[in-house]
Amino acid sequence: MRNTNKLGFVSIPIPIILYLAFTIHATLAANYVPTVKIVLSCGGPPTSTDTDGRQWNTDIGSKYLSANVKSITSQAATQDPSVPSVPYMSARVFPSTFTYSIPVVAGRKFVRLYFYPASYASLNGSDGVFSVTAGSYTLLNNFSAAQTTEALNFAFLVKEYSINVEGATLDISFVPSAKAPRAYAFVNGIEIVSMPDIYGSTDGTLRIVGQGASFTIDNTTALENVYRLNYPASMPTYVAPRDVYATARSMGPDPNINLAYNLTWIFTVDSGFSYLVRLHFCEIEANITRINQRVFDVFLFNQTAEPRVDVISKAGLAGIPVYKDYLVLAPDGSPQQDLSLALHPYTSSHPMYYDAILNGVEIFKVNDTNGNLAGPNPILAPKQDLIDPTRTRPSFGHGKRKNQKAIIIGVVTSGIVLAFVIGFFVVASYRCQHGKDLSAREVPSRWHQEHGHGKDSSARGVPSRWHQEQGRGFTKKLCQRFSFAEIKVATKDFDEALLLGFGGFGKVYKGEINGGATKVAIKRGNPLSDQGVHEFQTEIEMLSKVRHHHVVSLIGYCEDSCEIILVYDYMSHGTLREHLYNTQKPPLPWKQRLEICIGAARGLHYLHTGAKHTIIHRDAKTTNILLDEKWVAKVSDFGLSKIGPTLDKTHVTTVVRGSYGYLDPEYILLQQLTEKSDVYSFGVVLFEILCARPVMDTSLPEEQVSLVEWVVHCQKIGILDQMTDPYLKGKIAPECFKQYAVTAMKCVADQGRDRPSMAEVL
Ligand SMILES: *[C@@H]1O[C@H](CO)[C@@H](O)[C@H](O)[C@H]1NC(C)=O
Ligand SMILES: *[C@@H]1O[C@H](CO)[C@@H](O)[C@H](O)[C@H]1NC(C)=O
Ligand SMILES: *[C@@H]1O[C@H](CO)[C@@H](O)[C@H](O)[C@H]1NC(C)=O
Ligand SMILES: *[C@@H]1O[C@H](CO)[C@@H](O)[C@H](O)[C@H]1NC(C)=O
Ligand SMILES: *[C@@H]1O[C@H](CO)[C@@H](O)[C@H](O)[C@H]1NC(C)=O
Ligand SMILES: *[C@@H]1O[C@H](CO)[C@@H](O)[C@H](O)[C@H]1NC(C)=O
Repeated sequence: MRNTNKLGFVSIPIPIILYLAFTIHATLAANYVPTVKIVLSCGGPPTSTDTDGRQWNTDIGSKYLSANVKSITSQAATQDPSVPSVPYMSARVFPSTFTYSIPVVAGRKFVRLYFYPASYASLNGSDGVFSVTAGSYTLLNNFSAAQTTEALNFAFLVKEYSINVEGATLDISFVPSAKAPRAYAFVNGIEIVSMPDIYGSTDGTLRIVGQGASFTIDNTTALENVYRLNYPASMPTYVAPRDVYATARSMGPDPNINLAYNLTWIFTVDSGFSYLVRLHFCEIEANITRINQRVFDVFLFNQTAEPRVDVISKAGLAGIPVYKDYLVLAPDGSPQQDLSLALHPYTSSHPMYYDAILNGVEIFKVNDTNGNLAGPNPILAPKQDLIDPTRTRPSFGHGKRKNQKAIIIGVVTSGIVLAFVIGFFVVASYRCQHGKDLSAREVPSRWHQEHGHGKDSSARGVPSRWHQEQGRGFTKKLCQRFSFAEIKVATKDFDEALLLGFGGFGKVYKGEINGGATKVAIKRGNPLSDQGVHEFQTEIEMLSKVRHHHVVSLIGYCEDSCEIILVYDYMSHGTLREHLYNTQKPPLPWKQRLEICIGAARGLHYLHTGAKHTIIHRDAKTTNILLDEKWVAKVSDFGLSKIGPTLDKTHVTTVVRGSYGYLDPEYILLQQLTEKSDVYSFGVVLFEILCARPVMDTSLPEEQVSLVEWVVHCQKIGILDQMTDPYLKGKIAPECFKQYAVTAMKCVADQGRDRPSMAEVL
């Protein structure tokens, strides 16, 4: 499968001494048993169990609270559907400075803080502005959990720190901001678990990338995990679990393509801090077992962090995991900047393959000289700027580019998590054959499915392993960037035999990634101009954050060679329409049709209300409702939909787009697009499902050509039941039929204001 370079199997040994700086803590850490493990649900019930099966204890009446300082406990006033009850539905609220004094044994500790910014004790959630200190370190300053979650489109947050405790007590203080008049502090959960010192390298020093100077991580250093990619760390796992090493990202089979590009990831980081970048490596491909088969350079911030990395040389054997730490400085400047990580094949030693490999990345923020780890709150973009009535797709060329860029940055970047990634990990199907160091620590299987803890709980259960990189609490709605070469491999060079259909956007192919392990649908659009590519990319960054159980996930894109290509989860049962009429497939039972209706309605409802900005689908129809292997309905093809109105505007003016037969008459007439246009289309879908006939059928008598006109007429004269799919005759309970018909009828009301919202439909 793999091409060799033109020198074939020449193997030149590289001195192992080059890699002395590598360290393997795995054996040590795998056997580590934490001595301290305190898991507090603040204001919660005496004991409770979270969705991961972990036990939480209340802090009420605990010895950790100082008796004479005021604090209150409260339940969250509202619960976002994606928020687990434990520990997020209860909180301790602090009107003034409050300290938890927690007795611990000396040594390094994980400190995790859990925040769900709802309203507590009738306080306004946006007044929760505060600092948090732990010992002599400032973990958070002027921190607004509400602003942070809103800007990042999370429902809740987990902040993870590592702090060495010198004495016998760890003091964690919550300090309401002095600048905001009504400020208070709150916290939902606190977790303190002892950990081995996994940060200091063998000799205690690290060379700073791009500088001669060295840097010491010692007992005085506090760190915050700000980024964890393909590292499903659940407690009590201290070093990357074995599965991290069983998966990897490499460049591809073609040495010429590999030489022409860098395997690149971009992370957004706060300026003015040092970062410890830990790269995890393990040679997992059967044909790479010897030194000088795969050798590559590592770049950070465009500087050589390490030349000639040969994983076999360091590990000694294939399948043995190793990691390497690098220290980078993000200089002062604008509040945030991009930290790039790039790998490129090293050629001077003529390795067998011109390729690079990476299994996982962790990035830790290092405290500054004042003991501070706090960065600014992520910036909330001004909402109305996102609405640009003149903007049309897919050229993307007429918008206010600057504003759009600002918005995308606001949406994507983060003050706490460093995480927008362009690169990604291909989850290889290879297994780490000799990784016995870590074999005791199997990764809990839930990590393979979990998207983390974001806004949309329904993202859980999406079986795609692409999302494995999402660390605990830091849900990044990531989107992989594929090279055109990868797309060509996935689609067998756009083999027409793999053609699934034609979308509004272009041809759709079935493809395979991960060496065949993951099936995907690949949509190939028309090539773009240079500027179009940029707009396309920012668009994708935003759309990649839209994830819902009933919305087809965008898992990646390609913008090489001016191509626009979107990669989605593959839906094995195809479109809803192909199960309704003009088909050899067996008819769907009524109950299943209802479930599909509900699923599709949930998907549309999410697009309208669940995402940060209202998204109007514009083209809801039975060919855009897809069915996965479990017959779960998912709305698709919203990728180039309109971002809908917010606040001050009630509609988006736009060139009419959509599908004949499904189009909202008001939209056609006034060219004003609202969520209610989707409701109309959904009503048409309901009738199409009920009647199992095309929405426009010119073979029928004139009065019956338009499904909607005909059913409205039939309903008026009371014969709608005669129009239903003959297969369903006698199988629908009369009340159910009545409710269904009434709902569908309301959806296709002539005027938007007479139609229900998707929430009302549900
Ligand atoms: C770091 O702190 C731990 C716990 O307090 C202590 O055992 C260890 O000796 C310290 N290491 C150094 C180098 O001071
Ligand atoms: C909370 O405060 C914000 C900003 O101060 C304000 O916009 C919002 O209306 C308030 N919410 C409630 C429920 O009072
Ligand atoms: C505190 O954060 C808010 C935004 O959440 C910002 O507007 C304000 O300038 C910050 N204040 C300080 C002192 O950093
Ligand atoms: C890879 O990245 C390094 C560091 O930024 C740069 O010097 C080099 O030119 C890049 N190579 C390619 C092929 O893009
Ligand atoms: C690194 O290189 C890229 C592309 O060559 C450039 O866009 C970026 O500004 C560079 N970053 C730094 C920190 O020099
Ligand atoms: C981190 O904070 C501690 C305590 O304030 C300080 O002694 C140490 O020098 C800081 N580390 C760095 C790298 O500035």
